[in-house]
Amino acid sequence: MNSSPVLRAAVIGTGGIAGAHASALAALPDRVELAAVADIDAARAAEFAERFAIPGVYDDAESLFAAEALDLVHICTPPRSHTPLAVAAMRAGVPALVEKPTALSLAEMDELAAVHAETGVPVMTVFQHRFGSAAVRLRGLAASGKLGRPLTATCETLWYRDDDYFAVPWRGRWENEGGGPTMGHGIHQFDLLLSILGPWTEVAALAGRLARPTDTEDVSMAVVRFDNGCMATVVNSVVSPRETSRLRFDFEHATVEVEHLYGYTEADWRFTPAPGHEHLADLWPEPGPDRASGHPLQIEAVLEAIAAGEEPAVSLEEARRTLEFAAATYASAFRHVPVRAGDIGDGDPFARSMDGGAVPWNPIKEQLA
Ligand SMILES: NC(=O)c1ccc[n+]([C@@H]2O[C@H](COP(=O)([O-])OP(=O)(O)OC[C@H]3O[C@@H](n4cnc5c(N)ncnc54)[C@H](O)[C@@H]3O)[C@@H](O)[C@H]2O)c1
Repeated sequence: MNSSPVLRAAVIGTGGIAGAHASALAALPDRVELAAVADIDAARAAEFAERFAIPGVYDDAESLFAAEALDLVHICTPPRSHTPLAVAAMRAGVPALVEKPTALSLAEMDELAAVHAETGVPVMTVFQHRFGSAAVRLRGLAASGKLGRPLTATCETLWYRDDDYFAVPWRGRWENEGGGPTMGHGIHQFDLLLSILGPWTEVAALAGRLARPTDTEDVSMAVVRFDNGCMATVVNSVVSPRETSRLRFDFEHATVEVEHLYGYTEADWRFTPAPGHEHLADLWPEPGPDRASGHPLQIEAVLEAIAAGEEPAVSLEEARRTLEFAAATYASAFRHVPVRAGDIGDGDPFARSMDGGAVPWNPIKEQLA
């Protein structure tokens, strides 16, 4: 029997993705109560509160933090508001689970890290695909060395978003969303890639605005080398009519692949041992529950860590590594040079914004450098 006290959670931003958070919380009534919501659109907040039977309703985050004693806040607003809201949560002493992308820039990530160091209050990022049972197993196998060294990988987010999708005012704008499919869509897949292959060394990339009425790119492509020597390609697109999300890892002794769209089960993975290594097929899959990737597993893991007084995943440090990969993709694409990990320092325009003031199809912007 679970003897931990029932935690009190709140959701800020009651639009599209908030329902996934509220449903995941509602499925764990012995661990958590969704006590309150806040949205600057009061009617939307009220409707959401009625749908999920939530007692506290606020029309801004400030009143929410002033009135409620909370153990966790879910930040489900557009990207531009993530950093100020996460800072407000830390100052109020409330751990925050922030939707991706955590922040608009590396400078904002560093601001979050500084407030975290001062307050000791954690901020986590939603990267739900790290948490499916197959990804957890693959991370373990990769770390154990049983599959040999990782040699090559491919990571493709080939999605389709039409012009209507970009009619929502915050979408497709550097200042609101931080970037196009690199920051908003493919980030899910390359975060999973990075979580399995570890630190990256060097990125060379191209980005283009090929078909959508956006300020941001609608396609980017990167080649990357990892510290362990593995080489990978990463494609992020929102102009691909047959949508798919695909990752493939070629280790010395086996290929491991997944193809899904917005979440995978065990059935979406394929394991192929190399000739002479057929015995490795016993490792995949393992007996046990088929835990699909999605918000429920990450939210459950976050609640467990908070109840146990541990640091929940995905930490600011890990999320920064993923955001630095996005920044390096943009910096390489717009400067036409390879970018190494750590190259984008504090004073670099690409640390201040993902466009770096250097978007070739946006000549109005001045070079910041
Ligand atoms: N993890 C995933 O799979 C996934 C999927 C979709 C979206 N997202 C992310 O979730 C976030 C929200 O996306 P969405 O599609 O739900 O957006 P949305 O526009 O549907 O909803 C956002 C809500 O936030 C409210 N809001 C905006 N600023 C606010 C503020 N300062 N305080 C309180 N409320 C505020 C808006 O009124 C709106 O109701 C984005 O960061 C997006 O990238 C993640």
